[in-house]
Amino acid sequence: ITVYVPTDSAAVSVGANEVAAALHREADEPIRLVRNGSRGMLWLEPLVEVETERGRIGYGPVTPGRVPELVRAGMLRGADHELCLGVVEELPWMRDQQRLCFARVGITDPVSTSDYEAHGGLRGLRAALAKEPAEVVEEVTTSGLRGRGGAGFPAGIKWNTVLKAEGSVKFVCCNADEGDSGTFADRMLMEGDPFCLIEGMAVAAHAVGATEGYLYVRSEYPDAVRTLRRAIDAAYSAGWLGPGVLGSELQFDLFVRVGAGAYICGEETSMLESLEGRRGVVRSKPPIPAITGLFGKPTVVNNVLTLASVPAILADGGQAYADLGVERSRGTQVFQLAGNVARGGVFETAFGITIDELVNGYGGGTRSGRPVRAVQIGGPLGSYVPPEQFDLPMDYEALAEAQAMLGHGGITVFDDSVDMASMARFAFEFCAEESCGKCTPCRIGAVRGVEVVDRIVGGQDRDGNLALLNDLCELMTDGSLCAMGGLTPNPVRSALAHFPEDFQKEAQ
Ligand code: NAI
Ligand code: SF4
Repeated sequence: ITVYVPTDSAAVSVGANEVAAALHREADEPIRLVRNGSRGMLWLEPLVEVETERGRIGYGPVTPGRVPELVRAGMLRGADHELCLGVVEELPWMRDQQRLCFARVGITDPVSTSDYEAHGGLRGLRAALAKEPAEVVEEVTTSGLRGRGGAGFPAGIKWNTVLKAEGSVKFVCCNADEGDSGTFADRMLMEGDPFCLIEGMAVAAHAVGATEGYLYVRSEYPDAVRTLRRAIDAAYSAGWLGPGVLGSELQFDLFVRVGAGAYICGEETSMLESLEGRRGVVRSKPPIPAITGLFGKPTVVNNVLTLASVPAILADGGQAYADLGVERSRGTQVFQLAGNVARGGVFETAFGITIDELVNGYGGGTRSGRPVRAVQIGGPLGSYVPPEQFDLPMDYEALAEAQAMLGHGGITVFDDSVDMASMARFAFEFCAEESCGKCTPCRIGAVRGVEVVDRIVGGQDRDGNLALLNDLCELMTDGSLCAMGGLTPNPVRSALAHFPEDFQKEAQ
């Protein structure tokens, strides 16, 4: 009997390890216990699955204390119970997704090379190695894949720049410094299907002519670091990395580097500084990393989900990927629902799904049961969106037109008890805390921003301070060196535009 208990750190944080131990102890017949990734239905964790003739039957959320009772009730044979959810693949949350990037997450043993291959792994890399580098870049360009880290820059154009750049030494760097609050898909992919990322990086190396890759992971993700290191060791042993990848002429070595807790190291040039052993301070662009990157060499810098989308694109062709999505947002996006939401987790689907479908449909509204007042999309530097705009499609340009941004695809939900003036203040506080200090609009502006918001809510010269706030936002947007200072006005301005009443409490 095969039983699955996730090893994902979200599941572990609510007792998955204790559930696994209890299952070993209580099982009345021999079991093969697989520690899989999470299916992404975080409200059901720890989600235990049992392999049966009908498919994998889920039980959740399972506490260690309920394991004896579940075993007695016949869970190991897929018997009914109040915690039984039925066949996991048939749950609406799972059934309605189009999982390309997350196709194997929650299904396979994350560090088993044979499981990976048995579930379609390596098809993309094999297809890539049979092509010339320029043809691989062409396939990625055809797919319409855009950078999933937040900026949405076309991956094919970036790869082409690196391919065309002069130099015998080139690098592929994966930005896994997932610092945005409310985002966790990079972590879940690294913990649930690390080979997919490794495969994507090997494809990128072949496409641009790189021989070394670095995975820059934030220090707050120790489980992901451990899983990646185990997966990289296994990939070397299987001949998927090192000299002669899969019997080809590609030589590709891959290393994990752990950050030291700075949000700004998610900005690509700070990340490169950190990888080179220096303090994470933003570099001026140009030159762009594609031309002058790690150690001054041409470098592909892509987010985890961008690289993890590549195997499916090469396996099934760029056009199949481009057939999904809307307008200039092609393929699928791994949306993340977090904050005050009844059903939080990851939901991968084609672009074009509306905010309402995600938040009120799959997410089930707020966890508190109170009305949703706002969502923040794209992390702490993203805009707040009110329910009146929930029919907006998830599409880079449609959101930008509404002064919002898709970012990394994280959606944080707030109920009607939120005070939006304090959220605006928090944006400046966060920026002041995380600023690298290199440029004045961000270093000084963020501190002044906190003071101005305080004066507005305190009722001091409201009109004068609102004008000052607008000036400050304009200056930070136009004058900051990187997105940290440049995007901080987003949450401030959107809070002010949609919830002006929260900035006027004292005057009422
Ligand atoms: P950007 O627009 O400056 O650059 C996007 C990417 O395209 C970069 O990799 C850049 O080097 C590359 N690029 C630009 N022109 C190019 C060309 N001609 N050829 C080849 N490559 C080219 O944006 P940036 O500053 O890299 O990212 C900002 C975004 O980061 C924000 O929109 C935000 O959503 C996101 N973000 C994500 C976080 C996360 O945890 N994932 C955290 C904070 C911000
Ligand atoms: Fe550093 Fe902020 Fe300037 Fe970015 S905007 S370079 S984080 S000081």
